[in-house]
Amino acid sequence: MVAVPAVSRGLEDVVALESRICFIDGVRGRLIYQGYDIRDLAAHSSFEEVAYLLWYGRLPTAPQLAELRGRLGALRALPPELVRQIDSMPVGSTPMDVLRTSVSALAMFEPSETGPGASSIGGAQRLTAVIPTILATFHRRRAGLPPLRERPDLSPAAYLLYALVDREPTELEARAMDVALILHADHELNASTFAARVTASTLSDLYSAVTSAIGTLKGPLHGGANERVMELLAAIGTPELAETVVKERLAKHERIMGFGHRVYKVEDPRATILREWSKKIGEAKGNLRYYELLRKVEEIVHREKGLYPNVDLYSGSVYSLLGISHDLFTPIFAASRVSGWTAHVLEEYQDLRLIRPTARYIGATDLAYLPLAQRTG
Ligand code: ACO
Repeated sequence: MVAVPAVSRGLEDVVALESRICFIDGVRGRLIYQGYDIRDLAAHSSFEEVAYLLWYGRLPTAPQLAELRGRLGALRALPPELVRQIDSMPVGSTPMDVLRTSVSALAMFEPSETGPGASSIGGAQRLTAVIPTILATFHRRRAGLPPLRERPDLSPAAYLLYALVDREPTELEARAMDVALILHADHELNASTFAARVTASTLSDLYSAVTSAIGTLKGPLHGGANERVMELLAAIGTPELAETVVKERLAKHERIMGFGHRVYKVEDPRATILREWSKKIGEAKGNLRYYELLRKVEEIVHREKGLYPNVDLYSGSVYSLLGISHDLFTPIFAASRVSGWTAHVLEEYQDLRLIRPTARYIGATDLAYLPLAQRTG
């Protein structure tokens, strides 16, 4: 008799592949990109430096970084056909849907990046450069803002803010966005990265893999959680009501977004850094309301459920204070995570093995086939 392997629901604790890109120590609360601690990267590096690290496996020299900055700046423009497509999308569309559809459509205009074997780093850089432009092209139309001007001189973080809020950010604002992008750039085999790798493992192209990943990130149990955190804060209103609202939701077995994690058993180190930035930006804007509410919610959820915050708890408060609409929070996550998705896809192509797990079948096997005319209901 053949032993039946145990089912791991949600693939929990299953080690599916080897990777050099990202390590999470869920017990000590550490996150490492290509050997470097996220705390050092958040304190000293930039998003483009981190993207280089993820793609090439080493930190860039100054000329290498300058070259990458130049290239990302030059790769931001959309083909006019795609601008027309975005302009024809309903203004009420969810920006994540716009992003998913636009990345998918972009593939048809850039066949050199999507043909068989076109797994080049060029496609990774193109997608990383272009996502903010896709988002801004849609958002500016619905918000009645003038069309986007090309600004190849701005860093990815400053460009994202400039494109979405229509003004040049201060140094502190640009740095807050830069840190947020660094913190979201990669996270081992999270659901969207896994989706990207599954797609790539069939030898499909990079743009298809990123399209799969965007659809996966959209869900509220993954990237969509940061938008829901702000909905919770709106429902709470004032700190005095936090206890009642949070306890009511827990009593109804509702999940409190921004808490809990499949891998971290302690506080997510990204949440620690974003908490500091939520306070810093709150102080700079003279608005500590979100920060104070979130601290209160954190205290209640930890006391009642023993859960720690994840990356999504504080990110929304930072973005809100930077003037960004709530439904752009998850797309901003994608604007950063695309660097990690593409690094993983390139790694997958280097060490390709079709990802194809099995299911334990629990259905029937010996039913007698009834001709259509004999079936009664
Ligand atoms: N609020 C309330 N209870 C929670 C939460 C939460 N946020 N997270 C976990 N729990 C509870 C579960 O109800 C469950 O309780 P039970 O054993 O009494 O049924 C227990 O903790 C374990 O939960 P699981 O769902 O088994 O944990 P899992 O590892 O599958 O979940 C997840 C991880 C999906 C992130 C979960 O913690 C969650 O839903 N959090 C809220 C959504 C969120 O913030 N997502 C962002 C994650 S980070 C990211 O993707 C970028």
